[in-house]
Amino acid sequence: MVKKNACVFISGTGTNLKALIKNSREYNFPINIKCIISSTKKASGLNYAKKYKIPYYILNLNSQLNLEMTLLKLKENKVSLVCLAGYMKILKKNFFIKFNGTVINIHPSLLPKYKGLGTFKRVLESKDKITGCTVHYVNDKLDSGKKILQKKVFVNLNDSEKTLKAKVKQIEYKAYAEAVIRMYK
Ligand code: GRF
Repeated sequence: MVKKNACVFISGTGTNLKALIKNSREYNFPINIKCIISSTKKASGLNYAKKYKIPYYILNLNSQLNLEMTLLKLKENKVSLVCLAGYMKILKKNFFIKFNGTVINIHPSLLPKYKGLGTFKRVLESKDKITGCTVHYVNDKLDSGKKILQKKVFVNLNDSEKTLKAKVKQIEYKAYAEAVIRMYK
């Protein structure tokens, strides 16, 4: 199988990045993670880049120069898929005009419910019985691109934001992998 080249964009703990790296090492997983871009040098997820010896760049896309550098790195690494994984910046129109590839994201709610931040608090406040995560295509509008896949979990009466977050993260790792497989099958 000829794998597609992917780049993962992170800003934080990078546990989804770790799961994607592990999956990408499977012979039949459709993507190879060629590089990692972090919007901050403080992202602890960068430790996975180091551990798995994947090139990484700190580029926060806050300037034209950063945008050009990001596009250059994607081009150099022949990247056709960008996976956002806890990436805390909004990609602007210019990025989509200039990047000749696909961008996907994982969001910790059943979109279109609870776009943006603070999803777990809102799930608990709304007394939802079920929540989950969504893998979706990304455009320049927040959490609004076409859905690829969703996975659900039950919300228990004693769930807190912390327990819910932990529960959703566990299904995120599977959801991201399955979504990537679905895209290229
Ligand atoms: C995940 O919950 C993801 O849904 C959201 O940000 C979180 C990232 O976690 N977009 P991690 O950095 O992958 O651990």
